[in-house]
Amino acid sequence: MEHKLEKVNFLGQYLAASRSIEETLEMAMIISQDVLGYDHAMIRLLEGDILKAVKWIGFPREAADMVIHVGEGISGIVAKTGEPALVMDTLADPRFLSGVEGCRSELCVPMIYNTSIVGVFNVESNEPEFFTEQDLRILETFSLQITSAMETTRLRDKLSSSEKLSLVGQFASSILHDIRNDIHQLQICSDLLKKPNPTPERIEMVSQIVKKAGANIYGMIEDVLEFVRTERSRLDKKSVRLGPFIDSIINKIHTKASDSDVSLTVETDESIELDIDHGRFGRAVLNLINNSIEAMPDGGELSIISWMNGRAVSIELRDTGAGIEKERLDKIWEPFYTHGKEKGTGLGLAIVKKIVEEHGFTVNVESEPGEGTRVTITAPQIKL
Ligand SMILES: Nc1ncnc2c1ncn2[C@@H]1O[C@H](COP(=O)(O)OP(=O)(O)O)[C@@H](O)[C@H]1O
Ligand SMILES: [Mg+2]
Repeated sequence: MEHKLEKVNFLGQYLAASRSIEETLEMAMIISQDVLGYDHAMIRLLEGDILKAVKWIGFPREAADMVIHVGEGISGIVAKTGEPALVMDTLADPRFLSGVEGCRSELCVPMIYNTSIVGVFNVESNEPEFFTEQDLRILETFSLQITSAMETTRLRDKLSSSEKLSLVGQFASSILHDIRNDIHQLQICSDLLKKPNPTPERIEMVSQIVKKAGANIYGMIEDVLEFVRTERSRLDKKSVRLGPFIDSIINKIHTKASDSDVSLTVETDESIELDIDHGRFGRAVLNLINNSIEAMPDGGELSIISWMNGRAVSIELRDTGAGIEKERLDKIWEPFYTHGKEKGTGLGLAIVKKIVEEHGFTVNVESEPGEGTRVTITAPQIKL
């Protein structure tokens, strides 16, 4: 028995890594014959109300071509009822439909996936009373392993052929495009540095460009890491004073804001403290500030205001930028959705939403095209 169980386990492990349905069925046949010692076997899958043979061993082709409807013969009855059948003597069982000369006993189990019957696994022997109750349990286990492996393969195929590729493709191209631009800038800087007689102004300019490109690439890497992060609850929360927290973010984007003539104002109640993961929540606020600055290429105003309303804390960013049309408001949270800018990965707001929600906060956007946008993050019911 132990020996048999080992093989059942082995099949399970093998099938979990199986790459195709054909490979799954082939291996299932080989191992189940080794374990159960049957003479012939057939796996039929349901197509409408017909059981179609997809894999067999020891049966002639004609037996596989036989059309079996649900309810017909032992396989058909198993497919209809979902109950396994252990037939000790086929000669004494009127339900039996002979597929191969000399068959004297049969074991047939349903193949079930997610409570629906998807097919049957049928094994036969030329000896009467060949199969036991224990064999029935083993065949049921095989059947389960096969159906789940088939389903996994099917899902994997589906995903790898369309969604997965296009998602990875979109992801890679949106990020790589941006990184390429920044690297190009770095290359130009390297040429500038080689020019003779560097003036202090040129050195300062090169230094600024290098710093900016570095910060951009760094930011993008942070965004990608944040976006692909799957584990929840990895928030390293600490009580943080809102004023210094926002100042520390603004320090990072000061140059970007002044480059595009955006004036920044911050109004925070110094006493407000919030339980947050400083790094990750900072990333979210930074993404929002970046969006606002990018929406004001010809300059404008960005105010960051926070206040308490009872025990809830709100942080609001108001800009006087391009705004967002009503029909685009739902889309902006989708990963890869970007609109109206040359450089945009479309990950910013998807990340904001993820981080904000992981903190148990909410985020809301109101916008008036041509007037500006207002983003509000609300942290409900903080401890006082
Ligand atoms: N403050 C804002 N003002 C105007 N449009 C905005 C603002 N914030 C976001 N958007 C719109 O939402 C889109 C998605 O934003 P985001 O997810 O950060 O991606 P990205 O900034 O890379 O385009 C932006 O491309 C822009 O069209
Ligand atoms: Mg953005």
